[in-house]
Amino acid sequence: MAHKPLLATVLGQRQERPPIWIMRQAGRYLPEYREIRANVRNFLELCYTPDLATEVTLQPLRRFDLDAAILFSDILVIPDALGQSVRFAQGEGPVLEPVDPQIITQLRREGALEHLAPVLETVRRLRAALAPEKTLIGFCGSPWTVATYMIGGRGSTDQAAARLFALRHPEAFAALIDILVATSIDYLVAQFEAGADVVQLFESWALNLDDSAFAERVIEPNRRIVEGVRARVPNAPIIGFPRGAAGNLAKYAALTGVNALGLDYATPLDFAAKHLPDTLPVQGNLDPLRLVAGGKQLDERVDQIVSAFANRPHIFNLGHGIVPETPIEHVAALVDRVKNG
Ligand code: CP3
Repeated sequence: MAHKPLLATVLGQRQERPPIWIMRQAGRYLPEYREIRANVRNFLELCYTPDLATEVTLQPLRRFDLDAAILFSDILVIPDALGQSVRFAQGEGPVLEPVDPQIITQLRREGALEHLAPVLETVRRLRAALAPEKTLIGFCGSPWTVATYMIGGRGSTDQAAARLFALRHPEAFAALIDILVATSIDYLVAQFEAGADVVQLFESWALNLDDSAFAERVIEPNRRIVEGVRARVPNAPIIGFPRGAAGNLAKYAALTGVNALGLDYATPLDFAAKHLPDTLPVQGNLDPLRLVAGGKQLDERVDQIVSAFANRPHIFNLGHGIVPETPIEHVAALVDRVKNG
């Protein structure tokens, strides 16, 4: 098998310079993405059309020397596949018909993988199209993060609806998490079978939880997914990204069994040295707004991040998704600086 620097890093091998990919690297900061987006009726149609999803996935790799492609899809295709109404309103973000405790029993797991067949077809096409040294990343949303959208019906800053639901309806909440764990395992195994090299678990809302809720809603479901996937894909390489986990990061890494830990941009650079085993690969963690502003502060921060993680396996990334305002020249400058110093 060809050497894939990014995959090798997830598996624990430090590289001379860190490999790089960018969360949300396919998206609205690219004019060629906006053009394709303008010609589909809605965002989910883009996710479920393998021709277009393959094209959009590859767009950033044509412009920049990135080490990985990430499957173009969304974390909310799972609620959609379970039969919940999901739409992406222009300028509003995702809007879902909120689940109540009764409806949870009506979510249908059986047809979910069939519904996601077009996404798996995209993975197969990407596998065939990608140069051998590029890593293909699959993904899903982690159960708690997906549940916050399923229960709240939209994004929120404090996830209050889902936090209250979990406390008031513990049995219905546990049933929802069970459905999401089982569906995510099937979906990730299918992504590996279709050709993904590694998968990332996006726990974008790992913040706002006390440590007991964090253990129950974040660590345990992610641990079950890692265990369930590896039972069917032995040694499956998995990156966990618990955004906002802060003081819970070390526990998350140790107890879930992920190969590599994604760090958000608020995580101090000396955190890994102080709290993580030096063999544990880390990924991150540039503030996306530094990439918008560009210039000297960007170069200086990139150098700080690279040198802070120089003695361990490190994948360079942003500490959250790239934003639409990002100038393309800044992305090119970032990739060049990470690769060539
Ligand atoms: O390039 C890639 O990273 C792959 C594709 C990808 C998308 N969403 C495409 C997308 C990935 C990995 C995601 C993950 C995702 N989706 C997360 C986790 C990562 C994070 O940012 O925290 C979350 C929370 C979602 C849910 C979601 N999807 C929201 C809140 C939004 C609206 C906000 C926004 O950025 O527009 C989306 C829509 C979305 N997903 C877009 C893209 C390119 C923009 C939609 C459009 O083009 O109209």
